[in-house]
Amino acid sequence: MTTEMLGPAALAQEVVASFEETADPRLKEILHSLTRHLHDFVGEVGLTFEEWETAIDFLTRTGHKCDDVRQEFILLSDVLGVSMLVETLNGIETPDATDSTVLGPFHMVDSPTRVLGANISPSSVGRTCVVHGTVRDEQGQAVPHAVVDVWQADAHGFYDVQQPDTKPQGDGRGLFTADEHGRFYFQSIVPAHYPIPTDGPVGELLSATGRHAYRPAHIHFIVAAPGFRELITHIFVNDSEYLDCDAVFAVKQSLIRDFVPRAAGTANPCGVKEPFVEAQIDISLHKEGGDES
Ligand code: BEZ
Ligand code: FE
Repeated sequence: MTTEMLGPAALAQEVVASFEETADPRLKEILHSLTRHLHDFVGEVGLTFEEWETAIDFLTRTGHKCDDVRQEFILLSDVLGVSMLVETLNGIETPDATDSTVLGPFHMVDSPTRVLGANISPSSVGRTCVVHGTVRDEQGQAVPHAVVDVWQADAHGFYDVQQPDTKPQGDGRGLFTADEHGRFYFQSIVPAHYPIPTDGPVGELLSATGRHAYRPAHIHFIVAAPGFRELITHIFVNDSEYLDCDAVFAVKQSLIRDFVPRAAGTANPCGVKEPFVEAQIDISLHKEGGDES
């Protein structure tokens, strides 16, 4: 059947029908829905030919911006709130497990293995902080020897991989194994808020729409232990700017933690002697195969 005489509704219907023989039922469902929504969207805004060309050019440049260490499509998904929506649809929100949030694009290098108590930011200058916590299950029982992977920006809001000429790779990162009581602790500096990369098409989108590019200060965590669902999350610094307007919509109230100033000589698990800021970050993991509601 030709399509030249079809009106918009019949055209969408014909495209939907063209996927009828798709063997994979989930793929078929997704393509049917995608076709319907895409055609509705184009019809609703009355897309002009020039606008269609602009969109094709934008997506082409988004693809060209991607390489091994830069994923502009994920960034686009992030600023449109799609990453957070997928996260919300697939995360397990139980009252007792720590909430998850987006992975982000800066976990592209392996964190160096460090011993408990180590400084993860030895090449960075800033306010010293001591982060400590315990990994538990949802019943409050310690999870011994959980693997805790952390990464963060420095006090100027940059990750190590953004300053290859001045920062050794691995600064601001650490891979820890919690002790037999599930405890982990490390020294670092308080991270700063920072802008997501704006030197590509996503940056153009933000400036064309008057949106800022900033994320509130945070520390990323991936926590894993056998028998538990891996947790990908961040902890946000309580007094950071942009907590109420994260450029990628990834703040959850439950993930905001106090970073409390302590005087020199205050006891701490890292043996820090100077004044520091203390953050307690307890993590609760969801048992694999447990209640998914
Ligand atoms: C991040 O937190 O590292 C991040 C997340 C989403 C987009 C850009 C950066
Ligand atoms: Fe980040």
